[in-house]
Amino acid sequence: MEISKPHLCLLLLNSLVFVLLSAADDAQLSHGYNCSSDRSIYPCKSYAFYLAGAESSLLDLASIGDLFGVSRLMIARATNISSPTAALSYGQTLLIPLLCSCISNHSYSPVDYQIRAGDTYYLVSTFQFSNLTSYPAVEDANPLLVPTNLTIGVMVTFPIFCQCPKNRSQFIITYVLQPSDSYASIASRFGSDVQTLIDLNGREGSVQPYSTILIPVSRIPPYSMSSSAPPPSRKRHLNGAVVGLSIALGVMGLFWVVLLLQISRLKKRCSWTRKTDKELGEKKIGGSSEQKPIMDISEWLDRYKLYKIEELREATADFDSNCLICGSVYRGEIGREVYAIKKMKWNAADELKILQKVNHTNLVKLEGFCIDPEPGNCCLVYEYVSNGSLHSWLHGHSRRPHKLDWRSRLRIALDLAHGLQYIHEHTLPRVVHKDIKSSNVLLDSRLRAKIANFGLARSGHNAVTTHIVGTQGYVSPEYITDGIVSTKMDVFAYGVVMLELLTGREAVTEEGRMLWVEAEGWGKGEKLEEWMDEALAVAEEECPVESLVMAMKIAKACLQREPGKRPTMVEVVYALAKADDMSADFSGEGMSVGASGRVVAR
Ligand SMILES: *[C@@H]1O[C@H](CO)[C@@H](O)[C@H](O)[C@H]1NC(C)=O
Ligand SMILES: *[C@@H]1O[C@H](CO)[C@@H](O)[C@H](O)[C@H]1NC(C)=O
Ligand SMILES: *[C@@H]1O[C@H](CO)[C@@H](O)[C@H](O)[C@H]1NC(C)=O
Ligand SMILES: *[C@@H]1O[C@H](CO)[C@@H](O)[C@H](O)[C@H]1NC(C)=O
Ligand SMILES: *[C@@H]1O[C@H](CO)[C@@H](O)[C@H](O)[C@H]1NC(C)=O
Ligand SMILES: *[C@@H]1O[C@H](CO)[C@@H](O)[C@H](O)[C@H]1NC(C)=O
Repeated sequence: MEISKPHLCLLLLNSLVFVLLSAADDAQLSHGYNCSSDRSIYPCKSYAFYLAGAESSLLDLASIGDLFGVSRLMIARATNISSPTAALSYGQTLLIPLLCSCISNHSYSPVDYQIRAGDTYYLVSTFQFSNLTSYPAVEDANPLLVPTNLTIGVMVTFPIFCQCPKNRSQFIITYVLQPSDSYASIASRFGSDVQTLIDLNGREGSVQPYSTILIPVSRIPPYSMSSSAPPPSRKRHLNGAVVGLSIALGVMGLFWVVLLLQISRLKKRCSWTRKTDKELGEKKIGGSSEQKPIMDISEWLDRYKLYKIEELREATADFDSNCLICGSVYRGEIGREVYAIKKMKWNAADELKILQKVNHTNLVKLEGFCIDPEPGNCCLVYEYVSNGSLHSWLHGHSRRPHKLDWRSRLRIALDLAHGLQYIHEHTLPRVVHKDIKSSNVLLDSRLRAKIANFGLARSGHNAVTTHIVGTQGYVSPEYITDGIVSTKMDVFAYGVVMLELLTGREAVTEEGRMLWVEAEGWGKGEKLEEWMDEALAVAEEECPVESLVMAMKIAKACLQREPGKRPTMVEVVYALAKADDMSADFSGEGMSVGASGRVVAR
């Protein structure tokens, strides 16, 4: 075929325009950073440099923490702010700790953001996230959403740019270049040097103002660089390990903590879960390792909704058995929203004031409460998690539309690990859930997992002896024999849930054998058919063997009989994120369950 001259010309012109356009695109609109070819450096901890109050309205740690899915204590620690509740000054600089991952060949930290009226990818990236991401990158990270047609309430993953250092003793700070900056000024501010910045980011003029640059640092410098006087500080010891643990993975762990502590205090009063001295002693030991600031809770007192008992009666048809979900939890419709309403014996009105609105994606959220003065009842109103428990998905009698595929299961394992990491790492004294099991893991409409029943639902039937609570098949050996309570018992139970995810079998078999005891006999991973869930084998092409084997290794590490040998939840999160990367690489479709829960149900 012959192409006429004008035609050819047009073609050339077209491609020229295309080239020009894409060049402009590349110069101004960053799609973020590619992963380094060495994938073993992911995930890692990294930091984003954030200016409080800069063109966004966020001027307090709590809402900035909410935005990034980080507890404010973690930001306060990384930034060396002594009082997390103090108001921030305008333009105060903050370091936001992030978990940097490689997701479909892009290096970023996925932050979930719920769309509100008026939001666009551009506005949220530019203002709320202060250019730490860009709208083209948001589009890349959310292939299933139409950017021009965002519904209010939809969850969008904002990929906060980050990178992992090749040198493991360093951290990389993501910094948004300001018009007044030069490499020299940045280098001196962060204790880096100009050549390093050029090596990592290209020559000085090539980076547009308001795009990100990467600054490697060998330690987190003291950033008491607020524009005004630093807030008065209490003397406090910060050690590297604490900072190291401050990895960003969720929101407002602290409020949850306050809630949990309150609940455990209340439970102490109830006769059916009286704590032994041993337990209390253990908790003290766990908590005395470091000093943390005491929470000023007064500012949160009004965050809860107080319901009237009549309202809840109406919602549940006077606590009709038809509305019963399980235990003493009822499904109730208030207004047009559905809630899970838990009824309990309790007469502690003033204690309730301290319960705080929790907003961590992997913990079932408390919406409000109600006190019924007459019989001294109390109702807690939770978000309704629509897809039921993991137990029913894995072991239910085929009422589910489909079996969970491997990536959904991995995502659930990660969600659960994130939730547990929160309660373990951000509490003082440390809070232990004590009843992790697949029926306490609820799945929402996107099959994202949320931990439920924080000790609340543990009613009498589990209290085998005066102090042993928990569920058969999940309780750790040291707890059964010695009544020892520690975060490692949750790690153990978590290992059992992982086994359920891998094998599709129940924690206790019909013959009464423990799944975890059986797992001890399983080979070193070569013989997958020994344990792998048949439902996974069916869809083998979606189920990378390495990822499965790695997950089994993690499960078995959690199930060691010696509690000291079990990993912490932080370590589990890291290891799992790697298994997740493997599964994403394997599928080759350029999406990761780690990035968003959207990939799940097919
Ligand atoms: C990232 O990778 C893509 C494709 O592999 C390439 O086109 C692009 O130039 C890379 N970007 C950077 C900043 O290296
Ligand atoms: C991922 O990014 C790296 C770095 O730019 C590049 O070398 C590699 O080809 C990319 N891989 C894929 C699968 O796009
Ligand atoms: C982000 O960048 C845009 C220009 O691309 C700029 O107008 C805006 O002020 C920046 N946002 C912040 C918070 O600095
Ligand atoms: C926008 O999204 C809504 C709900 O997601 C859908 O019903 C509607 O058809 C979409 N509109 C367009 C123009 O895509
Ligand atoms: C890694 O970073 C540390 C601290 O900055 C430095 O002392 C060390 O020499 C670096 N190692 C390499 C291989 O660059
Ligand atoms: C943290 O800030 C205090 C004063 O606010 C200062 O004395 C201390 O040295 C700082 N710590 C670090 C690790 O920079």
